[in-house]
Amino acid sequence: MASTLFRLKPIQDAIGHGELKRTMGRSALLFFSVGSIIGSGIFVILGVAIPKAGPAVLLSFLLAAVAALFSALSYAELASAVPASGSSYSYAYVTLGEIVAWAVGWMLMLEYGVAVAAVSVGWGEYLNEFLGTFGITIPAAIASPPGEGGVFNVPALIVVAACTFLLIRGASESARWNTIMVMLKIAILVFFCIVAFTAFDGNNLEPFLPLGLLGVTAAAGQVFFSYIGFDAASTAGEEAKNPKKDLPIAIIGSLAVVTALYLLVTLAALGAQDWKLDTTSSSEAVLSSIANTALGASWPGALIALGAIISIFSVVLVTLYGQTRILFAMGRDGLLPKAFTRVNPRTQTPVANTIIVGVLVAIPASLVSLGQLAEATSIGTLGAFAVVNIGVIVLRRRRPDLPRGFTTPLFPLMPILGLILIAVIVLSLQPITWLVFAIWMTVGFIVYFAYSRRHSVLGKSGT
Ligand code: ALA
Repeated sequence: MASTLFRLKPIQDAIGHGELKRTMGRSALLFFSVGSIIGSGIFVILGVAIPKAGPAVLLSFLLAAVAALFSALSYAELASAVPASGSSYSYAYVTLGEIVAWAVGWMLMLEYGVAVAAVSVGWGEYLNEFLGTFGITIPAAIASPPGEGGVFNVPALIVVAACTFLLIRGASESARWNTIMVMLKIAILVFFCIVAFTAFDGNNLEPFLPLGLLGVTAAAGQVFFSYIGFDAASTAGEEAKNPKKDLPIAIIGSLAVVTALYLLVTLAALGAQDWKLDTTSSSEAVLSSIANTALGASWPGALIALGAIISIFSVVLVTLYGQTRILFAMGRDGLLPKAFTRVNPRTQTPVANTIIVGVLVAIPASLVSLGQLAEATSIGTLGAFAVVNIGVIVLRRRRPDLPRGFTTPLFPLMPILGLILIAVIVLSLQPITWLVFAIWMTVGFIVYFAYSRRHSVLGKSGT
């Protein structure tokens, strides 16, 4: 039994046999990852994290970035050795075995599916902010989830429905569209920095550590969400022109660019006003409100809100697309029903797959708060990252001969440090998040033993 649970997929099978066209060059991959990273995290969660750590939230961003970096190095090595499209799911299948791959795939549903719900809620907050400039207010009952003064979050539902519709029609990550979106996002964040720095007052950064180191780690647990997505390039391994060199550059490069940008935005936000004032706007469009206060006008906030509405929309689209692709890969391996792999001949898209994902994501998007969704996303992502760090160590032992375009420096220290920092971040999440994760994984294993194990293509091939 144990040997079938840990059966390994041959690397060549994971990489595929050239079914997908290799069209993505280095910058397309880099933009793809940056586009997946910058979303509701910096636009909304920043406002929730500041009251937890005060000005030291800067350290929280740094801690979360370092935690992400160790795992990014492991992703880079695996992506350069096994350039398959299924990201950590595929890496686990070739290094640690089927049941671990299944667990990773199940965790990726939090990293992608639940992330879509979280990002959609953030989108709704900027929609409210933007409409508010014109005196239009969506009634709280239909703009917030239960527990946050509402009943049902209609804006979040609308954005999920719109993206599901577009994906069914065949929209995907067109490289040019993605580049425009990334430029737009960076432009808005730079605009915010310029506005906020005009009101910069160093006194706002004192005292720097009002809530202690525990505040720093608590906030790091929350802002970790804002870095998720640097691994997106690894879902395009089979479409990369030169995966062995370009995937590591895209993964590590995107993280570096975003970290620099986030630290700048956070510094600008902290310097512009007393951090305690942010407590009142914690669940709102924090960048808009700080920019408005800095200039004493409402147009900067409206401009930022409009940019956020457009650019966060693109994150919802790309992440939803990523989720359907992961389910597609799992369906192709027989671990999920064939409905997930069926492609509609007219639209050339996996219609049933996309509708199922859209409906399942719309439920938490309209009923759960952003904070809870973001934590669930983070814990699932951290679980997948942990497996990638272990996978890098295992693959070095099992296949030292495998050509690697990138090797993690200071091996095995880096992946081990990666695992330790993952534990630090997980411990700073709320106990309810651990419980949700435990229940989610239990359901996953029940599905595995009830269905996936018996339908596995690898199992049927007698491997
Ligand atoms: N990193 C992504 C965001 O912040 C999930 O929206």
